[in-house]
Amino acid sequence: MFPLHISGLRFQPNGRAVLDGLDLQLSGDGISVILGPNGTGKTLLLRLLAGFLPAHGGTILWGGAGRPDGRMAMVFQQPMLLRLSVFTNVEFALRPQSLSAAERKERTNEVLERVGLAHRAADCARLLSGGERQRLALARAWAMRPRLLMLDEPTASLDPSATEAVERIIREIRTDGAKVLMTTHNLGQATRLADDIIFLAGGRVQEHESAQRFFARPQSAAARAFMQGELPWRIAFDR
Ligand SMILES: Nc1ncnc2c1ncn2[C@@H]1O[C@H](COP(=O)(O)OP(=O)(O)O)[C@@H](O)[C@H]1O
Ligand SMILES: [Mg+2]
Repeated sequence: MFPLHISGLRFQPNGRAVLDGLDLQLSGDGISVILGPNGTGKTLLLRLLAGFLPAHGGTILWGGAGRPDGRMAMVFQQPMLLRLSVFTNVEFALRPQSLSAAERKERTNEVLERVGLAHRAADCARLLSGGERQRLALARAWAMRPRLLMLDEPTASLDPSATEAVERIIREIRTDGAKVLMTTHNLGQATRLADDIIFLAGGRVQEHESAQRFFARPQSAAARAFMQGELPWRIAFDR
């Protein structure tokens, strides 16, 4: 499944190029964070990789193959939850996998424990707070044991303590062996989580750099302008 090679990726609804020949290579390790201005195609890129819609051109190769041979899971900004219990929301997602009912139950309980929702297992998912809903969405993805986890603005509407809980879970999923590819508007979050930064603007990857180097000094003028707009104060990059 890795390395992931994207070349010349195009998406041009009604002839307007949103992705304009995007090239990107990704290894199967660590947390890669996509940054870029609004409307630049970050969500779209994740959706294209997930196969939710077709590109208008270019190639996506997963370890040299046209299709990924490992599992991928995606969590959206507003997770879609079933009007069922917290437990069932996770267990249901495991039904396509060849697991016994007992294995599904065990795995579900394990991930709910790990995201701190075991005590809410019987509650209706619709009753959860925003942070709890996002943790449930992450538990559901985690239970699938994905090789690639894609997250689109996973903490966009959360307060700092809920954000911290989500970030901790993302790190644990990475430690469990998943490659994480995520978008965020939160530059602090990018400094806390990212191993590498993919800076998207003008329909292409303008810069793909280790997080340390990117935050020390973005190479492209577009990235510098973005950082100045998004970051009027200076966040120390220490770790
Ligand atoms: N399925 C689609 N059909 C047509 N246009 C789309 C589709 N998905 C996204 N777009 C357009 O692509 C652009 C990038 O959107 P998006 O990926 O949501 O930006 P970002 O996540 O970077 O803010 C937007 O102009 C959006 O309207
Ligand atoms: Mg988006």
